[in-house]
Amino acid sequence: MGVGERRRSAAARSLQAGNFERRHFSGSSGAIGLWLLRLWPQFQPVNSLIVKSGVAVRMTGPQISRSSKSVPMKLLAPALLAALLGLSAPLVQAANAAAKAPAKPDLVAGEARFAAACAACHGADGNSGSPINPKLAQQHPEYLIKQLKEYKSGVRKNAVMQGMAAGLSDEDMRNISFWLASKKIKPGFAKDKDLVALGERIYRGGVADRQIAACAGCHNPSGAGNPAQYPRLGGQHAEYTAAQLTAYRDGGRGNSLQMSQVASKLNDREIRALADYIAGLR
Ligand code: HEC
Ligand code: HEC
Repeated sequence: MGVGERRRSAAARSLQAGNFERRHFSGSSGAIGLWLLRLWPQFQPVNSLIVKSGVAVRMTGPQISRSSKSVPMKLLAPALLAALLGLSAPLVQAANAAAKAPAKPDLVAGEARFAAACAACHGADGNSGSPINPKLAQQHPEYLIKQLKEYKSGVRKNAVMQGMAAGLSDEDMRNISFWLASKKIKPGFAKDKDLVALGERIYRGGVADRQIAACAGCHNPSGAGNPAQYPRLGGQHAEYTAAQLTAYRDGGRGNSLQMSQVASKLNDREIRALADYIAGLR
């Protein structure tokens, strides 16, 4: 029996005795120790693992490459090494974050709540038929949650929606928003042949000499937006989009500095053109 093997079987004996964790690890490393304990059988063929009082670990070349045929071992070896060397903090933080993350949204509850309180204006599947009520289907849930919170707190002002949002808990907002995100938006159409070219030009390229940024830069050339940060616009009713751009510009909607700045430079004709182009965007 070589030195390495003797040490390993000593470690294994102490594992069997159940005091591996207590003797060699403390605090957050303990969790990793327990995790390793369950994986221990996989490490049995690896002679190269030498545990010295829970700190020093040495892995020698040839043995590692012999065991590197096994994919799990290849993946686990660095994690094991890091854990034993006390570098486990990021792993433990990740595990804690996962444990603290809110439970999965309840889409069934979200749908039921929406059907009861919201569908009359926003459509049964989030595709409102009325051009003044926005389509909500397929919108990024983070954006929807932000809007609902801001209606509730009054940061985004609208009498109807403030009343609607007042009755929603954070959990309701999450459930409804994730359910809406799972629905498909019904595409729309541009209607004004004369204006749509102007809308497309500004949407895609901005207006350089007036420092108007291209909408596509944030909202995506297809109008799909960018999850978490930038809402989807494509397919939205032109009347609603025009009303929002006007409200950002004139101060009626003050919940986004970025959009207030963008809209502050647009004239009414450009707003109409953009809204019309966006309605047909897909
Ligand atoms: C009486 C009609 C009506 C009802 C009922 C209603 N809404 Fe609205 N909703 C509107 C209108 C109008 C707007 C646009 C308000 C504005 O200009 O800010 C809007 C805007 C929104 C927005 C912002 C969309 C965006 O793209 O920024 C969300 C999110 C929303 N509603 C969710 C809901 C939810 C969830 C419910 C149910 C709890 C609901 N609404 C009930 C009429 C309604
Ligand atoms: C720098 C990034 C950026 C640029 C450029 C930009 N936007 Fe936005 N836009 C945003 C963000 C962020 C929001 C969400 C704001 C909020 O939370 O209310 C938004 C929201 C919107 C909304 C409201 C959507 C809704 O459902 O109510 C419209 C409409 C809109 N943008 C149109 C445009 C148009 C048109 C342009 C180009 C002239 C443009 N945006 C350029 C970042 C941008």
